[in-house]
Amino acid sequence: MKIVHYPHPSLRQKAEPVTQLSKDIQILAEKMLELMYEHNGVGLAAPQVAQPLRMIAINFVGDPEQKDQELIAINPVIIEASKTIIDDREGCLSFPNLFSRVRRPKRVKVQFYNLKGELMEGVFEDLAARIWQHEIDHLDGVLFIDKMGTVGRDASKRALKEFEEAYYEAQKNGEIPKDLTPRF
Ligand code: CO
Repeated sequence: MKIVHYPHPSLRQKAEPVTQLSKDIQILAEKMLELMYEHNGVGLAAPQVAQPLRMIAINFVGDPEQKDQELIAINPVIIEASKTIIDDREGCLSFPNLFSRVRRPKRVKVQFYNLKGELMEGVFEDLAARIWQHEIDHLDGVLFIDKMGTVGRDASKRALKEFEEAYYEAQKNGEIPKDLTPRF
């Protein structure tokens, strides 16, 4: 399992709710955390490992030693967002080395299930709120390039073209399997 990069079609799929906390889901959660840490991320959504499921891994400080900052969220939803908007820089593990300012609500209230199937709720601010919004967007096939302002989008044009060329080259060389069916 590996992190897929733009423009892999999995990133544009709307993910399906997780209906059962099976052993496969537990294994997927562990693999997602592993990959997130390996790539120094603070969040990773299942569509980024080509699994169209509503499931995300987060570590708010990106530190594998700080387990109290780590969580797996199943079927997360934002139930409230602040009117206050923050404009800040962010990146995405599916767009290596591309960063841009994105405007997002400063504070969100989130509901999700943990791996034990317990319903959890929390209010998050600033970077933590940004991580939730970025990851939940992934579950709907929405990417941070969709939310950049015109300046960010213009600045990213060349990088996006390079991602596209790399992807089509890998596809031509047979490095990207055409079958995207999840192995569950
Ligand atoms: Co991302």
